Amino acid sequence: MHDKPDALDAGTRMRRARADLESGALRGDALRELLLSVPAFERDGWVDALLGFEEPPPDVADLPRGAVPYLPSGVDEILAMVAEVPLRPDDAFVDLGSGLGRVVMLAHLLSGARAQGVELQEPLVHRARARCAELALPRVSFVHANAADIELDGSVFFLYAPFNGEMLSAVLRRLEDVARRRPIVICTVDLELHGVPWLRERETGKVSLTLYDSCVRGVPLR
Ligand SMILES: C[S@@+](CC[C@H](N)C(=O)[O-])C[C@H]1O[C@@H](n2cnc3c(N)ncnc32)[C@H](O)[C@@H]1O
Repeated sequence: MHDKPDALDAGTRMRRARADLESGALRGDALRELLLSVPAFERDGWVDALLGFEEPPPDVADLPRGAVPYLPSGVDEILAMVAEVPLRPDDAFVDLGSGLGRVVMLAHLLSGARAQGVELQEPLVHRARARCAELALPRVSFVHANAADIELDGSVFFLYAPFNGEMLSAVLRRLEDVARRRPIVICTVDLELHGVPWLRERETGKVSLTLYDSCVRGVPLR
């Protein structure tokens, strides 16, 4: 017989959750319910312990102009994004400026979608790949690149204010190219894209999270 989660001490609960995560038993709604059962003020740290994230390395000294240093998104924003897009197993999710990979891994674990991170800082990419390999997540990958310099593809893109200025303009041009081929959703945290003519903003239940649907002529909405 299983104990109720509330009846378990914190250490036992974490050990069981890790074992279930590694065996593939903890996915989708079961993971979502478990995360929501953790008190909100502990949730971010709890998820990092579950995924095995340690302190990030310091940001590299020579970040290019317009690039924002590493800071992880809140788990609540990620839960809201997955539910409100809604992210599906047949989506191709891309986090532009993925840091240690918290968003990429959770997006995949919660939805089953293929998920990719694009990150400028090589030490962060190495850490993210190592965690992914340990958790055996073959549908999750990380590219070491400047998002403004590579061809992009995917159906759902996530940006936690990773860059600004000309770098953001260049990435938006690349995203518009994707949207000419297929409908896309762009999810932003603490970043407004109000003046972009090919995007339509959607209301969300979270002030810090905004969703935009592409509306390039001839390409239907998702
Ligand atoms: C605010 S953090 C967001 C991290 C992650 N997306 C999350 O929400 O947890 C921004 C990240 O974007 C990365 N970054 C900044 N400019 C970039 C660029 N041009 N291409 C790829 N990554 C970039 C930074 O190194 C940093 O890790």
